[in-house]
Amino acid sequence: MSQPSAVPPFAVIPGAQVQHALKGREKQIVELVESTYRLHAAGDSVNPPSYFLRFPDRPTARIIALPASIGGQVRVDGLKWISSFPTNVAAGIPRASAVLILNDHDTGYPFACLESSIISATRTAAMAALAADRLSRGRQRPARIGFIGTGLIARYIHTFLAGTGWSFDEIGVHDVSADSAAGFSGYLQQTPVTGRVTVHEDPQDLIRSSDMVVFATIAAEPHVSDPAWFDHHPLVLHVSLRDLAPEIILASANVVDDVEHCLKADTSPHLAEQLTGGRDFLTGTLDDVMSGKVELPTDRPVVFSPFGLGVLDLAVGKYVYDQMDSSGELHVIDDFFHELRRYG
Ligand SMILES: NC(=O)c1ccc[n+]([C@@H]2O[C@H](COP(=O)([O-])OP(=O)(O)OC[C@H]3O[C@@H](n4cnc5c(N)ncnc54)[C@H](O)[C@@H]3O)[C@@H](O)[C@H]2O)c1
Repeated sequence: MSQPSAVPPFAVIPGAQVQHALKGREKQIVELVESTYRLHAAGDSVNPPSYFLRFPDRPTARIIALPASIGGQVRVDGLKWISSFPTNVAAGIPRASAVLILNDHDTGYPFACLESSIISATRTAAMAALAADRLSRGRQRPARIGFIGTGLIARYIHTFLAGTGWSFDEIGVHDVSADSAAGFSGYLQQTPVTGRVTVHEDPQDLIRSSDMVVFATIAAEPHVSDPAWFDHHPLVLHVSLRDLAPEIILASANVVDDVEHCLKADTSPHLAEQLTGGRDFLTGTLDDVMSGKVELPTDRPVVFSPFGLGVLDLAVGKYVYDQMDSSGELHVIDDFFHELRRYG
């Protein structure tokens, strides 16, 4: 019989430490996200559907629970608990806020609580950068990128693309908020590897003049519906998942990160499934493309719709934890677990 494990100490990792652990590590994080997707595809994970908590008195808000477990070398269980309150933006604070709890593999004890809006944005940007690379391999490498929706996630995606070797001749920007478009353009002007930045009033102009299009809006239902805008067959990173009408999905090659996760919650692929009654429009998963199981056509747009899996947050969170642990900088809360003797 194995020895009973000790109760692990409980640490709190604030945002400044998370940011410090991840800054400048774009290549490592993209590799980590890639290996996590491979573990997930190989079945070495548990990743049930996300739970959406919604409120009748605050219809635009939600808090999502993403429980997950990952094997391999990461070997950790846990939960991301992430709020989206879009009205925060007008009040001058970010829309999303989050914590990540890591649970010990052997005892189940929670051993860390991490600020997780940065982890969530980081893993999302890393998966977008991974997809940009893998899904563009059979075609001319995109040199004109367009961002539709220019909040925090768009900024992180640009940082991750730049940090993994991408450069662009043209960067197009479109947002329904002129302030957001101006703020993002200002950020782009300060980065060292920026091409020519153009703000487009009309999303059609931006899409037609981009060979890679990133959607990072907060649209709850499709607002782009004309397949002709995609006649030049761009690569589309559909990170916000609900921007495209099903007609565009049906005219494209579609790659998702996880089929069951993506075909839920009124995402554009979910709407396409409801319209057609089937899943034939799906070309495969990102892992299918990475492992050579499917090939992507070049005579159609390629749309990547990633639901974003809890296992990715766990992998990036554990990476941050290990950095802090090995540098001796963990803020441990002494005696967090107190009632430890069964009979007192
Ligand atoms: N797939 C994933 O794993 C994943 C992970 C994290 C975030 N996301 C999604 O990414 C999106 C962006 O997140 P964020 O934190 O950057 O949000 P944010 O609120 O900071 O920015 C969103 C921007 O989109 C703009 N916008 C809204 N509707 C638009 C429209 N129809 N056309 C153009 N612009 C529009 C807003 O004005 C705002 O500037 C959210 O939908 C979020 O749920 C997805």
